[in-house]
Amino acid sequence: MLSGKVAIVTGGSRGLGRAIVEELAAQGAKIAVNYNSNAEAANEVVAQIVENGGEAIAIQANVSDFAQAQSLAKATKDAFGQIDILVNNAGITRDTLIMRMKEDQWDDVLDINLKSVFNCSKAVARPMLRAKNGGRIINISSVSGIVGLPGQTNYSASKAGMIGFTKALAKELGDRQITVNAVAPGFFPTDLTSTLPEDLQKWILENTPLGRMGNSQEVAYAVSFLASDRAAFITGEVIRVDGGLAM
Ligand SMILES: NC(=O)c1ccc[n+]([C@@H]2O[C@H](COP(=O)([O-])OP(=O)(O)OC[C@H]3O[C@@H](n4cnc5c(N)ncnc54)[C@H](O)[C@@H]3O)[C@@H](O)[C@H]2O)c1
Repeated sequence: MLSGKVAIVTGGSRGLGRAIVEELAAQGAKIAVNYNSNAEAANEVVAQIVENGGEAIAIQANVSDFAQAQSLAKATKDAFGQIDILVNNAGITRDTLIMRMKEDQWDDVLDINLKSVFNCSKAVARPMLRAKNGGRIINISSVSGIVGLPGQTNYSASKAGMIGFTKALAKELGDRQITVNAVAPGFFPTDLTSTLPEDLQKWILENTPLGRMGNSQEVAYAVSFLASDRAAFITGEVIRVDGGLAM
């Protein structure tokens, strides 16, 4: 479904990002697996894709840094000749109540979750526009950005910001057939959620109509659909993959 396409997945070495990388590769895309610090994990993901007959490379970049996001796009284009799909997946939490939240906890979350989306989208927009071949930008937001969750003012603000960004950019790039959409996951067991307080985890499960956490592949399937030609007329949309949590 994605053969001949080139995708960048930020923070692609583990968690939801890894599942997205594996699914896009399984659909035939060539993948730039971005990582920030864990080269070993990224190289392992790449090796597995290559072993399965796919094409992938690992590219180090801290996507909250404007210049490094530019280098990520350039390295991808140098390796594969084009960029068709960007998945802005890298993200962190620094959860705490506002009374205890430090300025750096606010800044780190906004820089890594939201500024990175500006940095990477800007870095791929020019090559996508020049190629005149359309494109896909898919932002991994969160239900936290839709309903707001206590202890996550920084995270909810960053994820809500991604949704506004998605809609604005969808309007800017639409006439070039570049679609911009968001996926809003509910609760998935990854490193990111392993530190969620137990009472919040309990509240999430009790309020999820499907009564369970998600599997990482369930996010990856939504991303791969949005990346495909089948989603060519969908833009500025937010797809919740949350078992009904934010309904
Ligand atoms: N797990 C969930 O339940 C859940 C729910 C909603 C949204 N999300 C979102 O999904 C995305 C993936 O989260 P996850 O659960 O897989 O967590 P994770 O911690 O396993 O993965 C996050 C990835 O981002 C990378 N990263 C962090 N800072 C980076 C930087 N500056 N530059 C490049 N990469 C960086 C990490 O190295 C890691 O690979 C995040 O945006 C997160 O907010 C997750």
